Amino acid sequence: MPSCGPDSGNTDGNGFGGQTVTEEKMFQGFPDAGQGTLRFRKNGEFRLLVVTDTQDIDRPQEATLAMLDAELDAADADLVLLLGDQIHGPAIGHDEEKTRTALAAILDIIAQHHVPFAAVFGNHDDEGGVSKETQLGWYQSYPDCLMVKGSAGYGVGNYNMLVWSEDGTKPLANLWMIDSGTYCPKQDGTYDWVHEEQIKWYEETSRRIADRNGGAKVPAYVFQHIIVPEIYDLLTVTDASAKGQSNVVRGFGTWDRNYYRMGEGFRAGNLRECPCPPDHNGGEFEAMKEMGDVRAMFFGHDHTNDFVGTYEGIDLVNTDGTGFFLYGPGGDHGGRLIILHEDDPSHYETNMLYWKDVVKAPLPTDGSATNGAVYMFYTRRYLPLLLLAGAGVTAGTLTMRRRSQRKQEKGSGNGK
Ligand SMILES: [Fe+2]
Repeated sequence: MPSCGPDSGNTDGNGFGGQTVTEEKMFQGFPDAGQGTLRFRKNGEFRLLVVTDTQDIDRPQEATLAMLDAELDAADADLVLLLGDQIHGPAIGHDEEKTRTALAAILDIIAQHHVPFAAVFGNHDDEGGVSKETQLGWYQSYPDCLMVKGSAGYGVGNYNMLVWSEDGTKPLANLWMIDSGTYCPKQDGTYDWVHEEQIKWYEETSRRIADRNGGAKVPAYVFQHIIVPEIYDLLTVTDASAKGQSNVVRGFGTWDRNYYRMGEGFRAGNLRECPCPPDHNGGEFEAMKEMGDVRAMFFGHDHTNDFVGTYEGIDLVNTDGTGFFLYGPGGDHGGRLIILHEDDPSHYETNMLYWKDVVKAPLPTDGSATNGAVYMFYTRRYLPLLLLAGAGVTAGTLTMRRRSQRKQEKGSGNGK
């Protein structure tokens, strides 16, 4: 199993021995944030665990931590990839200590498994007010962290990691980590998009890898938080009368006038909620299709979707959330195992590691498994007030009704 302990020169925990990441420091001249540490195993496998939307606070849900721990046990991964919303910034607020505590609760569990990990940011990570740059430093304080800021010119955490042959002589797969941003100006929709500078960086880096590799493209896999708008080209518009059927959802944003179902092109999984991409298409998918290296793109963000589908030659794959602080898919909370094979790195195997299969404990019974702990918290806090208010309204209505009846009785006694 690859590791990035002292042998890799990773002495100060930032993955680069305190050096600035420059092309010169990259492994054998390839752009590679992993610096050659990620290699296929002797048995020809490279095992990735995708974990997304742990999205908890400084006093995290026990179920979130149990889920993460069980995923790590079950995956026996060579690399863990966190796909954003590791913490829920808005609920933590602009408090550095609490933010760091929330993140540490997640990263400490990964550290206990002594497995290299890397991350991208989601829309909630810095929403409490603690910057991505500050948080990046906290990630990098873990010796097994391979995450870097990158030089794409937009976002924090655009970088790539190569997976090398078992003997370390040849890069066989490439992992793109992309910061899909947070929110956009209201007139442009809700979510930000992958910007021109990032696409340019991707194209240039992809070309550099191919040049360095004797002109051959290295099969690549993309990991980011928010799904690309092309997901709605992969879905099939369906009649509104199909509402309520399984795998039928109403669209989001610019697509919200229609209902959609998983049509041709889907091979596995569930569509339980509307995918929420940016309204604006910055051209990321088109660029990747054009470059021809990307085989599949993996996303989080939509906590209850775990489909696998293919659109114009590239797989679009969603992973259910791991966290129990916000809404989730009950016993289908979990992470995604991806297995690459050294003799055919253009293809991959994947399956979800669900709570119902890997956690040796019943689901929480407080409703947090589907509604989220925060929803249940506010329901519990405000339900008595609502009941009281409801009782007051009912009593008031009854009194008024009685008064009105008495008036009517008096009136009818007059014989009018
Ligand atoms: Fe998100």
